[in-house]
Amino acid sequence: MKLKNLIIFGTRPEAIKMAPLIHEFKKNSVKFETRVCITAQHREMLDQVLDFFNIKPDYDLNLMRPNQNLYNLTSDIILNLKPVLEDFKPDFVYVHGDTTTTMAAALTSFYHGSKVCHIEAGLRTYNLQSPFPEEMNRQVTTVLANFNFAPTETSKNNLINEGRSEKSICVTGNTVIDALFYGIEKVNAPNYTDAQIDYLKKIIKNDKKLILVTGHRRENHGGGFIRICESLKQIAEQHPDVQIIYPVHLNPNVKKPVYELLSGIDNISLIAPLAYPAFIWLMEKAHLLITDSGGVQEEAPSLGKPVLVMRDTTERPEAVTVGTVILVGTVKEKIISETERLLNDEHAYHQMSKVINPYGDGKASERIVEFIMKQTDEL
Ligand code: UD1
Ligand code: UDP
Repeated sequence: MKLKNLIIFGTRPEAIKMAPLIHEFKKNSVKFETRVCITAQHREMLDQVLDFFNIKPDYDLNLMRPNQNLYNLTSDIILNLKPVLEDFKPDFVYVHGDTTTTMAAALTSFYHGSKVCHIEAGLRTYNLQSPFPEEMNRQVTTVLANFNFAPTETSKNNLINEGRSEKSICVTGNTVIDALFYGIEKVNAPNYTDAQIDYLKKIIKNDKKLILVTGHRRENHGGGFIRICESLKQIAEQHPDVQIIYPVHLNPNVKKPVYELLSGIDNISLIAPLAYPAFIWLMEKAHLLITDSGGVQEEAPSLGKPVLVMRDTTERPEAVTVGTVILVGTVKEKIISETERLLNDEHAYHQMSKVINPYGDGKASERIVEFIMKQTDEL
């Protein structure tokens, strides 16, 4: 009898990071029946990823609501996942990272009695307010997980220090690198065509240094985003030789201040979120990145791009240690001074633009499947 896998996710980054694992499990269809369930905590931004990786979900809970809140989203996920678990009765449920989907799906699967497999386990700041609510989501998921797939030794050590058993943990690298290698090869293939890339080619000013910006963290909503926008405005005004391209996250708490404060500035292009292939294509073209994104911090070192991270804490110390990432918080002076250092000081720029990949070698999904195979041999 085949073992039943249910892979559950809801947001853009989870989809990017789960896509390689879905394809890896589908290669092993003799041993596993693998189904995909999306909560659709995100809608458009999730669908963009599903299209690129050619993933057709078996269950689509379609839960996103405009400007949703954590209370409704959490309870909707739990109530709507129950019938899916009762229908498919998975042996293993896979959740990723630290979103509300991750935590609520892990909890529902625990209630149901499926084994919970946590991908990207063990990242920690040990500050429940930063990132909020992600630090709580991942700690709760750890408590519920039977198997923990840690991207790095640092994340494994966090889990060991919290009392997780060594044999429940497998260090895999991050599946984001599996996705990135696949994506970069595809977008650079001579016959690849992409309307968003054609559009980007039209708006990029080749005589200027390109700064790529993204941001969405809940703890930066409000004052944090106002300071971020003021910093970007000042950088753009004082450096006419720079072009800032900012694909703006669809969360209204981000979109509203960003469009209000940064529209109409000549060398700032505010655009809609890009589909994954166009985004990684643009990352390759960028001189530097300013972001509060987790995934972007993991991808950029592979492409040799310095990253300024607009957060006070990090659960990804590896890139800071190798020197490709600097934390600047949402402090205006710090965002501006570190950006100017990278624009003006070639030595500092080259120190940060090393192509070092602390997050993996592109084989994380293979390792996850191998590990699960071993567990099932013992069942
Ligand atoms: C969520 C995750 C965060 C993750 C981020 C990745 C939680 C609590 N937050 O934050 O951990 O890092 O995704 O981007 O799990 N929206 C759309 N279309 C979309 C996506 C979002 O319109 O495709 C708008 C909707 O109004 C939605 C709002 O954004 O209600 C907020 O979405 P939500 O998933 O709750 O929060 P994010 O800020 O996206
Ligand atoms: N990304 C994308 N389009 C964009 C911006 C980002 O496809 O316009 C990708 C990016 O390559 C990375 C992921 O989305 O893989 C990061 O998502 P996000 O920053 O929303 O979430 P986080 O990683 O912080 O949870």
